[in-house]
Amino acid sequence: MRILSGIQPSGALHVGNYFGMMRPAIELQEKGEAYYFIADYHSMTSITEPEVRRKNSLDVALDFLACGLDPAKSVFFVQSDVPEVTELTWLLGTVTPMGLLERCHSYKDKQAKGIAANFGLFAYPVLMASDILIYDSNIVPVGRDQKQHVEVTRDIAIKFNQLYGEVFVIPEPQIRDEVAVVPGTDGHKMSKSYDNTIEIFGEEKPLRKKIMRLVMDSRPPEEPKPDADKNIAIQLLRLVASKETATDYENRLREGGLGYGDLKKALFENYWEYFTEARARRAELEANLDHVHQVLKGGAAKARALAQTVVNRAKKASGLG
Ligand code: ADP
Ligand code: TRP
Repeated sequence: MRILSGIQPSGALHVGNYFGMMRPAIELQEKGEAYYFIADYHSMTSITEPEVRRKNSLDVALDFLACGLDPAKSVFFVQSDVPEVTELTWLLGTVTPMGLLERCHSYKDKQAKGIAANFGLFAYPVLMASDILIYDSNIVPVGRDQKQHVEVTRDIAIKFNQLYGEVFVIPEPQIRDEVAVVPGTDGHKMSKSYDNTIEIFGEEKPLRKKIMRLVMDSRPPEEPKPDADKNIAIQLLRLVASKETATDYENRLREGGLGYGDLKKALFENYWEYFTEARARRAELEANLDHVHQVLKGGAAKARALAQTVVNRAKKASGLG
């Protein structure tokens, strides 16, 4: 079984990325042949400073390795080190109906916000389809917001196969229901674009401040809260604390008597503790960047060899070369 996922180097990774995509991906590296990459081609639709892209890409590499991606088990690489993926994007684009892309939220949301979309953003799901199909991937672990793109990938692969024979493996998305959408500090989906993130790594003081500023209502501590399970801090606590601890806080909030300040403090302590080991590993990696570059180079060589065989298969089947 081949597992594949990617993450864009578009800013500091947050707890939503971790529980929605990184942790499932890291767990899956035990279950099959895992390919994980840093989607730097994709980041060109949002970032236009070369130095920012370079720095973010390295940060994602450090974050992912620190969180437990094991290069002995997974193939870890940078997307643009396998340029064949752009060649396959063209082949796939020729069988992709316009309507399919017009319906994609990546493009539709920007349109709705009045942001002038470019061809790259419109074509982004085709590049993503190429990312997936070029490694004969079976399983794609992602957060719920990426499900539509994996479905588009399936449609494109089926269409190509109908025209040119059994070229591509049809992939399946894998979404963990319990962490499908991690809430941000304002209660909406945690996302870099909403300025509501809690980063995985960073300085203690500002992160503590962010958590203490989680948006709550104005009910006094002693008032019982029958909707305790919907509280953002409880939802986040469930991810970073033991089941007993999270249930205990939820019950105390429901019954009344637990103040929001104390709840947030508990959330911060548990969150900080949860990433302690990863924080230490990240510091070690940061002091040994040569090793990180070696890992990515080795991953790219393996990924590229596989990508070349799949692109050649697609070209041959479609009468190219
Ligand atoms: P962002 O919304 O911050 O820009 P990305 O779109 O780069 O995040 O997402 C990278 C990965 O993390 C994707 O697989 C996405 O589904 C997952 N992800 C992002 N935010 C969340 C969230 N709040 N809850 C669950 N998964 C998330
Ligand atoms: N589009 C994904 C995101 O923004 C990142 C990504 C690019 C990806 N190519 C992929 C994820 C292929 C899974 C498989 O989060």
